[in-house]
Amino acid sequence: MKRLTIEERARAWDDYLKVNHPRYYSDLHPQIIRFADILQKEDRKELLDIGCGPGRNTVHLAERFNVTAMDISEKALEICAGRVMAQGHGLRTILGNQFALPFPDNCFSAVLSAFSLNFGYLDEIDKGEKEMFRVLEPGGLYLLAVLSDQDPRDKKGEKVEEGTFQTEDGLVMHYFSEKELEDLPGTIISKEHSIFHRGYEGEKDLGEAGAWFVIGEKEFEKL
Ligand SMILES: C[S@@+](CC[C@H](N)C(=O)[O-])C[C@H]1O[C@@H](n2cnc3c(N)ncnc32)[C@H](O)[C@@H]1O
Repeated sequence: MKRLTIEERARAWDDYLKVNHPRYYSDLHPQIIRFADILQKEDRKELLDIGCGPGRNTVHLAERFNVTAMDISEKALEICAGRVMAQGHGLRTILGNQFALPFPDNCFSAVLSAFSLNFGYLDEIDKGEKEMFRVLEPGGLYLLAVLSDQDPRDKKGEKVEEGTFQTEDGLVMHYFSEKELEDLPGTIISKEHSIFHRGYEGEKDLGEAGAWFVIGEKEFEKL
């Protein structure tokens, strides 16, 4: 199967979000609320939401932090900004690719990457992990939520790498093993596996999915 370009995937997400209503992504994960509580307690202000999508998490975060929302899909950013502004909050939106972030080093006090990094091939995911870490200031925290290899759903598409599946309609999805999380940068503060209910698409029950939620810290350099 031919490897998908970033542009092809951006178009696939635009097309998907044009027909799929953002309410599919409305339930907040408790792990993300707990992360936001930690950030608020520690008075962290500048937060990057990587792969914000239609803004499920962004709406909540923009109430509490200065949020930069980034995505490869223009449609995602449009829906996200509309939802956040409808709540009376501000945000900065940036069109960009998580595997080559359009930000300088050390510029965010926290980064959220929720169900975005798993949309990639292994070499890209490796870059994306390093990028997420690069833009964090020393002492900064990230929360990474990714699909797990214990996800109970039938995998759609063709297997193109260990744990990675590619579909005809332009998506590439990787399901993380626990072993792969050992390569994450920084000090891992917590790691949790969760099987959760995905909600409903109209009347249709979307069933369950499985994910890892990892919180990591970028250490200060030792002098
Ligand atoms: C399943 S949605 C998750 C949205 C949101 N973070 C949430 O948890 O509800 C995945 C999002 O990742 C974005 N995405 C996929 N690949 C990306 C990339 N290479 N760079 C930036 N965003 C990407 C998609 O456009 C989509 O909006």
